[in-house]
Amino acid sequence: MSINIMLFFPGPFIFAMASTVYFKTIMRNASKSSFTRLCSSGTIYMQHSSTLFDFVVENLVERMVKWVKVGGFIFFRESCFHQSGDSKRKYNPTHYREPRFYTKVFKECHSFDGSGNSFELSLIGCKCISAYVKNKKNQNQICWTWQKVSSHDDKGFQRFLDNVQYKSNGILRYERVFGQGFVSTGGMETTKEFVEKLDLKPGQKVLDVGCGIGGGDFYMAEKFDVDVVGIDLSINMISFALERAIGLECSVEFEVADCTTKTYPDNTFDVVYSRDTILHIQDKPALFRSFFKWLKPGGKVLISDYCKSAGTPSPEFAEYIKQRGYDLHDVKAYGQMLRDAGFDEVIAEDRTDQFNQVLKRELIAIEKEKDEFIQDFSEEDYNDIVGGWKAKLIRSSSGEQRWGLFIAKKK
Ligand SMILES: C[S@@+](CC[C@H](N)C(=O)[O-])C[C@H]1O[C@@H](n2cnc3c(N)ncnc32)[C@H](O)[C@@H]1O
Repeated sequence: MSINIMLFFPGPFIFAMASTVYFKTIMRNASKSSFTRLCSSGTIYMQHSSTLFDFVVENLVERMVKWVKVGGFIFFRESCFHQSGDSKRKYNPTHYREPRFYTKVFKECHSFDGSGNSFELSLIGCKCISAYVKNKKNQNQICWTWQKVSSHDDKGFQRFLDNVQYKSNGILRYERVFGQGFVSTGGMETTKEFVEKLDLKPGQKVLDVGCGIGGGDFYMAEKFDVDVVGIDLSINMISFALERAIGLECSVEFEVADCTTKTYPDNTFDVVYSRDTILHIQDKPALFRSFFKWLKPGGKVLISDYCKSAGTPSPEFAEYIKQRGYDLHDVKAYGQMLRDAGFDEVIAEDRTDQFNQVLKRELIAIEKEKDEFIQDFSEEDYNDIVGGWKAKLIRSSSGEQRWGLFIAKKK
């Protein structure tokens, strides 16, 4: 049976499971106090139809934001995309929406107090329900945890990712170049080559840090029957990843999370995998110490990442690094950071030649598809991408920008 309950706890936490919200059923199922709460907060949207229309969801979210205290949380769980079970129904009024609809409604909701102070919701977590993924290979049950914060609280870096570097259109542009499911160098080709080195066994647990839209995770889970957890700070990236997971019968979970603050119990994963992501992280030593703790003894870390040559970068390259907010190191120093975090058998390979070859092939492919690219995006998008690739090629051909592959083991 679908979820037909809506519970509102007084205090700083609102818990809402509203997937098939038949209004009559809510009234029957909801406790008296929660019903009273709903009534006292306005019931217009409960009386007009037997399903939640989009505007009703928006209205409900606005109300919930008002009810919850500043610093309090809203937990929201939904069936997305399609029905969860396979029971046939004569009539099913449920709207199985895409998760990005809910993310957008919550993200864009603002409330004001009597003094004109503005509040909004900050996304603490968004993930598929693990039990459904593990037991049913079903990624359609999604939950979100939001926290009410003052509008000026700093969520700067996540905003930068979602609104500047990885806007939805920007992600799709990159995917066109890197290949379906990928936002990093070489797409499926380098993924196959690197994953081969991990000697994955069925049932192993893999953490993908900065998973993007999940291409590497689907590949690992489908080909090697491993359980993959993909985390990414960008809401846009995880929204795409969740959508792409639908219909794939493999064990992949996605979560919006900042790898610098996320915690896992010690000895959780067999593999920590990260592709072209840690360039964004300023405190790499701390992150590598976390990786070491999260890995089981015998576990491996595999990282590909942007690097630089030793010495001071040219003014142009320094400007590029600054504008992107990257933190780049030379390949040797990068390997040493892994050793310092406790890792053994550290392999630190300079893969800049491969990076150059891949960039050239990607550039030729985009230029060949110019008309289709412009038709699907725009001329400006095309010029941005081609210009960006040419600039990367100049930097990497001169040897200033480098690309590293790192593999290491926890003994
Ligand atoms: C170049 S993309 C690579 C995506 C994916 N690994 C791939 O290969 O397609 C870098 C990713 O790192 C993510 N990222 C940046 N900072 C992060 C952080 N602090 N925690 C988690 N993910 C982060 C970005 O949102 C982005 O999706």
